[in-house]
Amino acid sequence: MRQSKTAIYPGSFDPVTSGHYDIIVRASRLFDKLIVAVAPNPAKQPLFAIEERVAILQEVCASLPNVQVERFDGLLVDFAVQCGAQVIIKGLRAVSDFDYELQMALTNRRLCPQIETVFMMTNSEYVFLSSSIVKEIARLGGSVQGLVPKAVEPYLYRKFGRPIPNRENHGG
Ligand code: PNS
Repeated sequence: MRQSKTAIYPGSFDPVTSGHYDIIVRASRLFDKLIVAVAPNPAKQPLFAIEERVAILQEVCASLPNVQVERFDGLLVDFAVQCGAQVIIKGLRAVSDFDYELQMALTNRRLCPQIETVFMMTNSEYVFLSSSIVKEIARLGGSVQGLVPKAVEPYLYRKFGRPIPNRENHGG
C-alpha cells in the first residue's frame, strides 16, 4: 500500500496573501495532507497576533478538506517530524528569494536529512506580492482586492481602523 504523503507549508502569514493561497491550493493537490504551519516570528513585529493569523488561515482554507492549519513554536523540522510530514513546501517569487531560501533549505536538511524541501514557483500574477506590500496598501487606505483572499480584507482594514475602500476608485 502507498504511504500517505504529508507536506508542511510554513510561514508568518501576516496576513496570508493571494500568493500564499495559490501555493496552498496547488500544494494541496500534490499531497494527501497539507499542514499550513504558522510561526510566531517575533523578530518581524507582526501586525496580527499568531492566534489571529491561524484563525484567518482556517477561515480561508475551510473549503480545502486536506488542509490543516497549525501554529508551531520551535524548529520547523521538529514540527514537521511531529506531524509526520516528509516534505517542506516553500514558495519562490523571484531570484531575490533564492539565497535566503537556499540557506534555510540546507540548514533544515542538515538538521533533519529525511525531510525534503520542495520549491514551488509562484503564479506570475503574484511575483511582486508580499504580506508587507499588502499591509502598506491597507494602512494607507488603498484597495487590496485580489491581493489577499476575500475573507482577509475586513481583518486588514479593521486593524488600521479604516473602512473597506470603494473599489472603483482604487483600481482594485
Ligand atoms: O513567512 P516567513 O516569515 O518567511 O517564514 C519564515 C519561517 C517561519 C518559515 C522560518 O522563520 C522558520 O522556519 N522558522 C522556524 C524556526 C526554524 O526552524 N529555524 C531554522 C530554519 S533555517
